Amino acid sequence: MRKDTIIIPVAVLIVAIGGIWFAESGSKNGGDSQGMMLTPLPKSLDQYYPDGGSPILLLKMLDMVDAFDDTTVNLQENDLVNAKNSFNKFSGEYDNVSKMVPEWSGYFDKSLVANIGSDIDNKNVPKAFDDIGKLGETCDKCHREIKPQVWAKYYWKDFGSINVTTVNPNEPAAPWHDAMEKYLAPNFEGMITNLNEGKQDAANQSFENFRTMLLNFKQACSNCHTTEPKYFISDDIMAMVNQTGDYVKSGNITGVEQNVQIIGMESCYKCHVLHQPAQMMKDIMKQ
Ligand code: HEC
Ligand code: HEC
Ligand code: HEC
Repeated sequence: MRKDTIIIPVAVLIVAIGGIWFAESGSKNGGDSQGMMLTPLPKSLDQYYPDGGSPILLLKMLDMVDAFDDTTVNLQENDLVNAKNSFNKFSGEYDNVSKMVPEWSGYFDKSLVANIGSDIDNKNVPKAFDDIGKLGETCDKCHREIKPQVWAKYYWKDFGSINVTTVNPNEPAAPWHDAMEKYLAPNFEGMITNLNEGKQDAANQSFENFRTMLLNFKQACSNCHTTEPKYFISDDIMAMVNQTGDYVKSGNITGVEQNVQIIGMESCYKCHVLHQPAQMMKDIMKQ
């Protein structure tokens, strides 16, 4: 059997494995958090993440948590007077935070907070810890369901905002997604397609375009990374890309196919696995 008959085209591989991966993670998560991942964040949250300003929600959360921790420390020391003082501060901060995003009010349990206050008044330290534990679970629930999106939306740069230089003089730059889809992927595939069809010049051109595009993307990494990333478009991958060029020019289809398979996995696929989930969340946030 000829080698090329068992090689799966890389584009198909990327899409297929990506599909399986997301399908599996979907069925494992299930329930609420899966639904949350697909729901845009409330618009009212934007005011707490002003462009170029401090993340107000985070600062409020940290104030609240300081008072929460102080309460625990004082309870551990059996210092009920200071425990009550820090509890009162915590309770006030909790109330403030709970009003910040009206859509999230269901995550806050004020009666449980009131119980902690009564536990301290009743000098029932074990019960206070019990209720603090229960409250901690409500904090965790929101963090699990909401924090990843908040981070994706307000902290991570949008690939859609990055323009990448292309090999097409009529469209000298394109947004990241389009540049991959229109200029990187077709030329990556084009090397094998053209060789299989006996079009040597076109295969050479596909290689040149592919290599140029990959280097253009490498430049574009610096939009988010301050140091040169160690994977995906690193020197080992570029050495393999250059070797692929030699194979293309000498018409070594088997060699090209083998390298394309490895580059597809080590560069394209692994980079997608790392970077695309956050971008997908961001895209949902924009709706
Ligand atoms: C309605 C949702 C929600 C609830 C309820 C909530 N938090 Fe948060 N919390 C967040 C979000 C969103 C962030 C991330 C903010 C950011 O990083 O900008 C956060 C961040 C934090 C942080 C910052 C550190 C980190 O790594 O995330 C701490 C600590 C924290 N919360 C503690 C608590 C505690 C303790 C409670 C309960 C008493 C609580 N939170 C309740 C949504 C919530
Ligand atoms: C739009 C912003 C963005 C661009 C552009 C980007 N990255 Fe990243 N990259 C990230 C973020 C955010 C993380 C952290 C992801 C995580 O924790 O899952 C990351 C993590 C990484 C990591 C793992 C951590 C590390 O620094 O070793 C590597 C490697 C990496 N990126 C390589 C690249 C390469 C190569 C490019 C260009 C081809 C690139 N990235 C372009 C945002 C970006
Ligand atoms: C930074 C690491 C990175 C590398 C390396 C990378 N990509 Fe991408 N690619 C992305 C990201 C991120 C997106 C989604 C961008 C968006 O949606 O705005 C994407 C999108 C795409 C898309 C369109 C959406 C899709 O998934 O079908 C194609 C096609 C694609 N890449 C092909 C490739 C090929 C082929 C290679 C390797 C030759 C490659 N990419 C290398 C990060 C990378």
